[in-house]
Amino acid sequence: MKNSSSAFFISLIYFLISLILLLFSDELLFLITKNPETIANLQDMKAWIFIIISSIFIYFMIKLLTKKHEKSKDELEKIFNSLASPTMLFNEDGKILMINKIFEELTGYKYKEIDTIEKWTRKAYGEKALEVKEIINSLYSVDDIVDAGVFQIMTKNDKKICWHFNTAPFGIKNGKRTIIATALDVTELKEKEKMMIQQSKMAAMGEILENIAHQWRQPLSTISTASTGIKLQNEHGILTNEIITESMDMINKSAQHLSKTIDDFRGFFKPDQKKEFFKVKHTFEKIIMIIGNKFDGEKINFISEIEDFQILNYNNALIQVLINIFTNSKDVFNEKKIKDRFIFVDVSSDEYSATIQIKDNAGGISSKIIDKVFEPYFTTKHQAQGTGIGLYMSEELITKHMKGKIKVENSKFLYDGKKYSGALFTITLPLKI
Ligand SMILES: Nc1ncnc2c1ncn2[C@@H]1O[C@H](COP(=O)(O)OP(=O)(O)OP(=O)(O)O)[C@@H](O)[C@H]1O
Ligand SMILES: [Mg+2]
Repeated sequence: MKNSSSAFFISLIYFLISLILLLFSDELLFLITKNPETIANLQDMKAWIFIIISSIFIYFMIKLLTKKHEKSKDELEKIFNSLASPTMLFNEDGKILMINKIFEELTGYKYKEIDTIEKWTRKAYGEKALEVKEIINSLYSVDDIVDAGVFQIMTKNDKKICWHFNTAPFGIKNGKRTIIATALDVTELKEKEKMMIQQSKMAAMGEILENIAHQWRQPLSTISTASTGIKLQNEHGILTNEIITESMDMINKSAQHLSKTIDDFRGFFKPDQKKEFFKVKHTFEKIIMIIGNKFDGEKINFISEIEDFQILNYNNALIQVLINIFTNSKDVFNEKKIKDRFIFVDVSSDEYSATIQIKDNAGGISSKIIDKVFEPYFTTKHQAQGTGIGLYMSEELITKHMKGKIKVENSKFLYDGKKYSGALFTITLPLKI
């Protein structure tokens, strides 16, 4: 803007001087001499002087303008390099105009190596280069700040780092729409988050394994009794074909039961989580089957009313969340030594979403802390019993992975003519993500 107004100003002066020279120079010559030959000579000279003066004038003006331009570029570079966050300036031609020092330091790439979006995306994003380029292309038409999200970047020495990018339009530079992108290095944060997810999953796995072990006791003892029975009867010569068939059937049935409990949860132990179609009813049945025995032992009754419908989401994540919620109820029942113990599960759906409500009759959560239960490391339990990440992770899984919502409140209700109170968790999930 500044450059173009100075250019206009200079052109105007040039135009006026030329005009004066054109209109009045001949009159001036006639004042000096009336000799036509001298006048012709002087007119020739005049033309030459005009050309020389114009050239000198244009030379100095261009120099002045480029100096101004370089000065402003220098200033911009200084500002860029003083920024603590990695920053990049690029235009709609896919040219990267500038990156700052911290950008070079953290990625290991020198400006020359990544002076185009093409080179940068290919080097930093590898397989995802196309996807990132598409996002970048969509930025030029936006005239606001954009939270572009978190990206994994490959540095020059093959280190993976995570950057959270924000972009904003930087006006028109040299006739091209230009964008400024600043990044926040969230590598450590992401690592920590990953560790927490892992830690929380391990806790849920521990819970599942403990329950599987509990479930296995019965069939294992059946197998062992049947096989020692056959051996003893054989030794005493009283083994009949009927006994063999009956015992083998029993062993087979028990073995199938063992394999089913493992099959149901095999997916949960796999590291990669995939979106899948599943029935919320099945997920509950699986969980209640697996923890049911142990919860029976704790005298916890599940009372459920579950609609039969399918959703497309992360089944494993839902298992993890439900186990966290059930385990919390179990802990409070034990802590408060509650006699009659109920967990009510209510699942319904409408056109767009599924609603899962889980409430217990353990007395509820004190109003002083109810707003804090989803915070990381918030726990009212002894260090050995709780880390306080169960509900934090549950909220992360529900909101970030499953694109749903989770809230908690206290509820008072009647069951079998008796008054109860307890925590009520409501989860809403989209039917498809
Ligand atoms: N059903 C409930 N009734 C009463 N209080 C609850 C209930 N569920 C959770 N809370 C409270 O919320 C706190 C946070 O729960 P959260 O699951 O996040 O952590 P934690 O159970 O203490 O530890 P962790 O799950 O990591 O082992 C609990 O310490 C407890 O005080
Ligand atoms: Mg917990």
